[in-house]
Amino acid sequence: MKEEFEMKKKVEIDWKNLGFDYMKTDQRYLSYWKDGNWDEGVLTEDNVLHLGEASPCLHYGQQCFEGLKAYRTKNGDIQLFRVDQNAKRLQDSCRRLLMPEIPDETFIKACLDVVKANEAYLPPYGSGGSLYIRPMVIGVGNSIAVKPASEFLFTVFCMPVGAYFKGGLTPVNFMVSAYDRAACYGTGQQKVGGNYAASLIAHEIAVEKGFADCIYLDPTTHTKIEEVGAANFFGITKNNCFVTPKSLSILPSITKYSLLYLAENVLGLKTSEKDVYIDELDEFSEAGACGTAAVITPIGGIEYKNKLHVFFSETEVGPITTKLYDTLTAIQLGDIEGPEGWITKL
Ligand SMILES: Cc1ncc(COP(=O)(O)O)c(C=O)c1O
Repeated sequence: MKEEFEMKKKVEIDWKNLGFDYMKTDQRYLSYWKDGNWDEGVLTEDNVLHLGEASPCLHYGQQCFEGLKAYRTKNGDIQLFRVDQNAKRLQDSCRRLLMPEIPDETFIKACLDVVKANEAYLPPYGSGGSLYIRPMVIGVGNSIAVKPASEFLFTVFCMPVGAYFKGGLTPVNFMVSAYDRAACYGTGQQKVGGNYAASLIAHEIAVEKGFADCIYLDPTTHTKIEEVGAANFFGITKNNCFVTPKSLSILPSITKYSLLYLAENVLGLKTSEKDVYIDELDEFSEAGACGTAAVITPIGGIEYKNKLHVFFSETEVGPITTKLYDTLTAIQLGDIEGPEGWITKL
C-alpha cells in the first residue's frame, strides 16, 4: 500500500517543471519549548499550526528560519549539503532574537527525519530539482507585551523545488533598489522574517519593471552592493579574483562561503571579501547571485541610475561562473567528492 502511494506521488509531480511554490508533503517535524526545555519532538501529518492570537511571532516578528536542500545522487542515495552550517546560523538567529537555540544534533536529526519521511517527494537525479527543507523557530504563547515569548515552536517541513529564478543557469538582470532590507547594526546577518517583510516592496517594484529581483546597497552610504534579492553577490575581476561584499547587514550565505572555498582551492583563483562599490562595476568581467535557492544565477546586467551595466553577457554565462556552478552542483549531487564534512548522507 505504502509503495503504491509513493509511486503515485512520483507520477503526479512534473519534476522538470518545478518552481518554488509551496507543496504540502506527508510529514513535518514539530517540537515545543516550555519551562526551559525542548520536548522530544514528533513527526506529524498536520501542516497547520495552532497558535495563540497574541503569539509574539505574529506581532513582533520573534521568529527565524533556515533554508537548505537534500539531493538525490546518481545511484539513488539522498544527501544534504552543509546542514551543520544551517544549524549554526539558526542558533545565531535565535541568540539575536532571544530565542532558545536548537542543538546541532536536534536540528540535523529533525532535517534528516523529515527528508526520510518525505522521500517520495525527492526529485530524481538529473531533473534539476531538489527537496527544499525549511526549519523555523517561532515565539508563541499569548503575551502582548514587547518582550520575548514564553514558549516556542521549532518546526521543519520540506517540499520539492526547481529553479528559483526562471531558467536556472541563464543570466538575468537586476535593478538597484532605493529601499534598504536591513539596518547596519540591525538583523541583516540573521535569517529573520522582518528582513524579508522589509524587502517585499523592493522585490515587487523590480519584478514590475521586468527585472528578476533587486540589488540592495549598504544602508549607511548607499554606495556599496549588499545582497541580490535573497542571495549574496559575487563578481569575478578581470584578473581572476573572486570578490564578494563584506558587510554587517548581509546574510552570511553558506553557498557564498562554499564558493569562496572552491574558487580558491579548486579553481585556483584569488579571493576577497571587501567593499563592492556600485559605481566600480567595471572591475568585474562576470557576476552572479548565489544562495541555496538561487544556486548560482549569473547576473546579466545591473540597472543603476537608469543605465544597465552588463557584465559578461545578457545571454551567455561566463567561463568562471560556469566552472563554479559545475563544481558546486557536482558536489551537491554527489558526482564528485566535496571537502570533508560538507555532505551528510541519509
Ligand atoms: C537574504 C539572503 N541572502 C543570502 C542567502 C543565501 O544564503 P545561503 O547560501 O545560505 O542559502 C539567502 C538565503 O537563501 C537569503 O535569504
